[in-house]
Amino acid sequence: MIKQTLTPAFPSDDKRWRIVETAMKRSNYQADALIETLHAVQEAFGFVDESAMQFVSARLNLPASKVYGVATFYNLFQMKPAGEHTLSVCTGTACHVKGNDQIVEFLREEYGLNPGDTTPDGKLSFIGARCVGACGLAPVLIFDGKIVGKLSVDEMKQKIREWVNDES
Ligand code: FES
Repeated sequence: MIKQTLTPAFPSDDKRWRIVETAMKRSNYQADALIETLHAVQEAFGFVDESAMQFVSARLNLPASKVYGVATFYNLFQMKPAGEHTLSVCTGTACHVKGNDQIVEFLREEYGLNPGDTTPDGKLSFIGARCVGACGLAPVLIFDGKIVGKLSVDEMKQKIREWVNDES
């Protein structure tokens, strides 16, 4: 039997789109879910870029202009990541108890970063995310959209140091 290919609904196969989808589903894909959905995008990815706005527009059946208008009107939404690299730390329960609480602390102590902050050299932005739907891999970090899981706290710290010092 030929497997039917469905048009991918998400802009990419990044699991975080599922969180956005869940936010929209909660409000039955109603137009008034727009701000909440944009919040979900920002919380999951740290910013609301053009592909996200297009996606939200299609899923909520709203004109793209409306989505752009709302996203750009509120200062709450960032259109692109502030830093060269973006590190999302999942702070959902599974990840929290498996060590990400210590990673949040580490980022604060070592780099002075709280969620939403970027290092002064613009190298790394730190985003706190709620459960990103990959609890089996806990504790989960997402670096530039790539999920890294099942590392010890020391391994995660090591990885973060490598990322921050990355010359590439
Ligand atoms: S709690 Fe981190 S992926 Fe679910």
